[in-house]
Amino acid sequence: MTQIPLPELALVALIGASSSGKSTFASRHFGPYEVLSSDQFRALVSGSEHTLDANEAAFSSLYHVAARRLERGLLTVVDATSVRAEDRRRLVELARAHDVLPVAIVLDLPRSVLDARHEARGDRPFSEAVIGRQQTDLRRGLRGLGREGFRHVWTLRSVDDVDAAQITRVP
Ligand code: CTP
Ligand code: MG
Repeated sequence: MTQIPLPELALVALIGASSSGKSTFASRHFGPYEVLSSDQFRALVSGSEHTLDANEAAFSSLYHVAARRLERGLLTVVDATSVRAEDRRRLVELARAHDVLPVAIVLDLPRSVLDARHEARGDRPFSEAVIGRQQTDLRRGLRGLGREGFRHVWTLRSVDDVDAAQITRVP
């Protein structure tokens, strides 16, 4: 079982391909206001979670709200795929700017699980090929997360691993 001792002063990046279970994990382990989801921000700024050209507005809004929370010392969880280094760099910078620890919780599930979930959902208007690319990007970057600035990295590699993970808050 993976025990995740999470510092209270942290910016937590949930990292994983679509359908890896980030939003499910977030709602299970964190309070609703602690979680900033890119889908939610896309919907807030554009009216739909799927608006393709709303990424910039969505993420700039998400970073802004994250910054306001971190100023208050509030633990903040970013629920976005963050599979590319350039997406993660912004989160590390944000954490450093507010003197909180950037930490990563990675959901790196087998492709077969991702594909089966994607197939069953029907609320993600893109093909399985997109998920394959996300997984490739993620795995390429995994070993470098510490070097990118993440101070703690927890990687969950199976459905059981994700189910059994326990988070404790440490001062
Ligand atoms: N799911 C599941 N069992 C789990 C976790 C998730 O069956 N232990 C299902 C969810 O019900 C959902 C799908 O898998 O239908 C994807 O889970 P979600 O948490 O939404 O994944 P995300 O990583 O948030 O996907 P996205 O990036 O597309 O938002
Ligand atoms: Mg999600």
